Amino acid sequence: MKKQDISLLAKEDVFQLIGTEWMLITSGDSSHFNTMTASWGGLGWLWNRPVAFLFVRPERYTHEFIERNERLTLSFFPEAQRKALQVCGSKSGRDCDKVKEAELTPVSLESGTVSFAEARLTLDCRKLFKSDMKQADFLDKEILEKWYNDKPGGGFHTVYVVEIENVYN
Ligand SMILES: Cc1cc2nc3c(=O)[nH]c(=O)nc-3n(C[C@H](O)[C@H](O)[C@H](O)COP(=O)(O)O)c2cc1C
Repeated sequence: MKKQDISLLAKEDVFQLIGTEWMLITSGDSSHFNTMTASWGGLGWLWNRPVAFLFVRPERYTHEFIERNERLTLSFFPEAQRKALQVCGSKSGRDCDKVKEAELTPVSLESGTVSFAEARLTLDCRKLFKSDMKQADFLDKEILEKWYNDKPGGGFHTVYVVEIENVYN
């Protein structure tokens, strides 16, 4: 895994990268971390910094790790690792050793964060901002009903804005 210039991201199609490839959000250090699959989010610019926007439900075990730690990584994988992403998106680190089940190999980065040897691209990020979504803030009530009030997947997401500080491939 080699450190690259952030301009590498200009070659990526963000819609494809997050919405179709999916990503692992990993937080913690090599001795204690958790990871989960995410397909909602974005990459872009805010406060003149390159950032990622993440949406994590409070029920996720990973949420605890993101809350406790200053940093996290976003890892993107070749199609061959689809099964690993399905495992990390359907099981909780509370109940099993997901990384072992997904057959992923953790790699410790210079900043102390964790990614995986199988990743084709890793963004090493630092938290800048968080906000818990609130019922009153939904302008389109259909979204509120569909994704929250019927509680198909849990509580209101926490929105995190993280700065992309290092890029590896
Ligand atoms: C394709 C896919 C995308 C997902 N995207 C998100 C997401 O953006 N935000 C979120 O909170 N959960 C998302 N999930 C659900 C979590 O990955 C899942 O609940 C996971 O088991 C949480 O693991 P944890 O409890 O170990 O953190 C997604 C799941 C899948 C399969």
